[in-house]
Parts: sequence; structure tokens; C-alpha cells
Amino acid sequence: MNRRIYLDHAATCFPKPSIVLDAMHSFSTSVEAAVGRGVYRSSQNSSEIVSRLRREIANWIDAKTAEEISFHAGGTEAINTALFGILRPGDHVVTTAVEHNSVLRPLHHLADTKVINWTVVPADSHGHISADAILQAIQPHTRMIALVHASNVNGAVQSIDTIGKRLVEDFGESNKPIFLCDAAQTFGHLRLSVTDSHLDVLAAPGHKGGRGPLGTGFLYVRRELHCQIRPTVFGGTGTHSESLEMPREYPVSFEAGNMNVPALAGWLAGIRSRSQKSSARAALKESSESMKTLATELYGRLREVRGVRVIGEPHELFLPVASIAIEGLPASDAAMILDTEFGIEVRSGLHCAALIHEWIGSPPDGTLRISCGESTTLQELDCLADALKEICE
Ligand SMILES: Cc1ncc(COP(=O)(O)O)c(C=O)c1O
Repeated sequence: MNRRIYLDHAATCFPKPSIVLDAMHSFSTSVEAAVGRGVYRSSQNSSEIVSRLRREIANWIDAKTAEEISFHAGGTEAINTALFGILRPGDHVVTTAVEHNSVLRPLHHLADTKVINWTVVPADSHGHISADAILQAIQPHTRMIALVHASNVNGAVQSIDTIGKRLVEDFGESNKPIFLCDAAQTFGHLRLSVTDSHLDVLAAPGHKGGRGPLGTGFLYVRRELHCQIRPTVFGGTGTHSESLEMPREYPVSFEAGNMNVPALAGWLAGIRSRSQKSSARAALKESSESMKTLATELYGRLREVRGVRVIGEPHELFLPVASIAIEGLPASDAAMILDTEFGIEVRSGLHCAALIHEWIGSPPDGTLRISCGESTTLQELDCLADALKEICE
């Protein structure tokens, strides 16, 4: 089967626009110099690429300054930088059952080693988390609330805005717990303003909705919090080189060692190809509308296939990410058949999300996940529905 219908955009977007690949190639063949390490022209060019990307990301998430953005090798590394850099012995953290393991595993580790205590707020059967439940879980020592913007298992979008506003109402802007959001599935797809949502920390990969290559990601830390976060990776920063102490300036001290500038150059080209045509706000509006249409079309088709059980269909806002189970067929077998017989690439299993499955009622071996991206067409969804019908017959 030569056909390739890629429906695993929740993992990474594909194909990357050619402008991304061209920018990476052009950087590596004509610049390829380290950032912030030299006064010569190519090094300055490298630094300029990174600065422009910082400004671009700040604009997309409505951050006040570009110096609130640091770059990392994906969403996982950005989240780890925040959790290990901010949390201290005795802290309590509120998180939820719908998180990805990139949040759950570091928190479990910190709890297991007696650094923190944590409370995991349950989800409803659609994968939504109630704002009241989050607020009720807060204790006197709660230092942080860590919440995903959208589930990578069923696409359920959480009301970050409402929760942020309620936190400010109840505790005040400067006394509320640190509010962290994992925007892995939504960055570049849905508008999320750190200012309007009162977010202190936001982490996201660049390689999903951001159009960047794999292994890219960023962390936003609100300026007022910079004195509370410590580096987790130690090494050269190109600054204060006479000192054995790690400098504490954000973002440069959180990017020790050489950065993957070819990838960042590609990401910059990818994200700019959207904001050049219109403002970031207009691009996000357009993207959220097309995601909504794709979500409705995807769920509509899946519901119609006899023998397919849609798992945890969200009832509010959701992304085009769906989990299904096929009667009598393990998810991994179904994924294999879809690939080998129909050329359709989807993912099976638990999707690196340990806890959500209990709440949405997944089978023990997990689900078959179908996830769309900006390149997904309705014809591809028709092919998926036809293939599922054939498999289920
Ligand atoms: C919700 C969520 N958080 C975090 C991550 C981790 O991102 P990365 O793969 O860039 O480390 C993912 C990746 O799929 C995700 O879906």
C-alpha cells in the first residue's frame, strides 16, 4: 500500500511545510553558527533568528516580553524545566487525571522522593475537569496548579480562562498558586493568552500546531516569577564565563549549551508563514475554526460506523482528536490493519497519558487514536470511515 494518510497529528504535524525544510537547509548550509557565543556575523545571524522566534512566540501567546520565553527540546523538557526549577520541599501541587505523562511522571517522581505532595483532580466521563474541583483541591501549601489545555487522548479542551479568572478572584493576582498550562495540543491551533488567562507558566512543543520540526519546544515564565525558578541544566551560557556559578537570568540561563538553531530556524519560518499573511490573532481564529470543523466531521463519521465505540467524546470545546475501540479487535491490531491494508497511520495504546483512561472508559489495552492537523482533508476522513466500516463488517 503506497498511499499514506497521516492521522497522527497529535504526535507531530506532517508534512512540515516546505518553507520549514528550506529554512533548516539554508541555515545549515550558510550560517550554522552558535548563538550568543561570537561577535562574527554568522553568530549574530544565529542569535537574531532565536530572538525573532522568541518575539514571535511571545506574540502568539500574548506574553508581555520575548525575555519570558526559553527554548527546549520539546514540550516534555520545557515542562520538566518548570516543575524541577520551581517546586521546593513542602510544596503541594494540584493537577488532573487528564494530564500527559510529561506532567504526571515528574510530579510522581517529586512526590515519591518526598519533595512535594500532590492532588490529582478527577475528570468526568468526557475528559473535562471542573473549575470548582480545581479550586476545592487547593490547600494552604498549594504552590502550583498544573493543567493541560487539551487532552491528547480525546481532544477535550479545558477552561483555562475560567480557572485563571477564578484563581484571581479567590486569591488575588499575586497570592494565587502558580498557574501552569501544558499547551502541547493547542499551541498554534487555539488562542490562549497568558495575560487573559492569568497563566504564570506555559509549556508547548513547536512541532505540532507550531509547524516546527520535531524536538522543538518553549517555556513561558512570567517575568515576576524569574526569581523563583532555578536552572536544571548547568553549563555554558556564553555569559559570566569567569564564574562557576550558573547565572540566573531568564531565559539565557535556562538554555545552557548550544541550541538546536537549525530546528529553531525551521520553526521560525513555519510560524511566520502563518503570521505574515495575517496577525497571530487572526491566524489563530482561522485555525480554531478549521479545527472545530474537523472535530465535528471526525466525530460525526466515527459515530456512524457500526462496531466502533467512541470513547469519552467531549461535550464542550474539543480538538479533532478522537479515541475509539473496535468490538473484538485490540487497538494495536486495528492500527496495524489500517496501516498495512489502507495506508492510514493512527496511534494505538495509552498515548502517554496514564490516568485519563479510567475516567473515559478505555479498554485495558488502550484506544485507537485518530488525530487531525491543518493538512487533514475531509476526503481523508472519508477514507478512514470507509476503512473502519470494512474492518468492522
Ligand atoms: C498533552 C501533551 N503534553 C506534552 C507532550 C510532550 O511534548 P513533546 O513530545 O514535545 O515532548 C505531548 C506530546 O504528545 C502532549 O500531547
